[in-house]
Amino acid sequence: MIPSQYLAISLSLLLSVSAGNHIRSHNRNLGFDSTTPTGDVDVNDPNNQGIRGGGDAGTVPWFVRLEGSSVCGGSLIHDDCVLTSASCVDSGFPSTVLVGPTSSSNGTSYTVSGGTIHPSWTGTPDANSDINLAVLKLATTSSNSKATLNSNSAVPSGTDNLQIFGFGLINNAEYASSLQQAFVTYTADCASSYASYNATQTICADATAAATCTGDSGGPVLGADLVTQVAVASFGVGATCTGRTLLGFVRISHAYDWIQSEICSLSSR
Ligand SMILES: *[C@@H]1O[C@H](CO)[C@@H](O)[C@H](O)[C@H]1NC(C)=O
Ligand SMILES: *[C@@H]1O[C@H](CO)[C@@H](O)[C@H](O)[C@H]1NC(C)=O
Repeated sequence: MIPSQYLAISLSLLLSVSAGNHIRSHNRNLGFDSTTPTGDVDVNDPNNQGIRGGGDAGTVPWFVRLEGSSVCGGSLIHDDCVLTSASCVDSGFPSTVLVGPTSSSNGTSYTVSGGTIHPSWTGTPDANSDINLAVLKLATTSSNSKATLNSNSAVPSGTDNLQIFGFGLINNAEYASSLQQAFVTYTADCASSYASYNATQTICADATAAATCTGDSGGPVLGADLVTQVAVASFGVGATCTGRTLLGFVRISHAYDWIQSEICSLSSR
């Protein structure tokens, strides 16, 4: 368990970073400045457009950046396995990923040798039956620390803070040049405001203070202990990054057994 002292420090850090607009100006030098924002989930869902309202995350050893036609996130869940979203890889697995990048120009590059898309993925991230997940196999192993996956269906609860990470859009036009993080509030039931919401397999969060946007899909969402990965960023409700109102994340506890079986069948160790 994380001491409450640590939580308080982290939250006050959030307040200080999101209070001003220095984060956006800080990121004027774009990591993806020569790339047309192709997005990730927005290929399928025009409503889904990095993290808005965030601050620098520093080095997160188990954060993974997919290198491909679209910017996407992921997490290192085993020495040679990465968890990401199906929407990031359903038009082709990336040839390489970066493990532990702090900026868009560093991290350690790994070749992707294969992967599996969740059998319940049909191509619509916000459908109430689709499970937007994929596991990638790395050709070689990483000794970086791994993300800890949540298997408890009672987590998150209440108005837990959830921590999001990514290199995606920080507003409607600019990608982050450094790994961003922010906190969003878990919302127990989004069904009244979003018809496609399925609480069994989706975690919903309020997007008022911060939001995942294009380029953040596949990225890890940590629970209130700020250690356990409870979800994978998937989609948003709202026409643009700044106009986003709700966020939809794939609930890891619901897909826990599938993820474990994929690790076991894909991993070479
Ligand atoms: C990655 O880049 C950032 C920003 O330039 C820098 O602060 C950090 O030390 C770099 N990390 C490594 C491992 O080179
Ligand atoms: C909600 O998700 C559960 C678990 O995947 C599934 O069994 C159920 O059919 C879904 N509900 C709807 C309305 O699609």
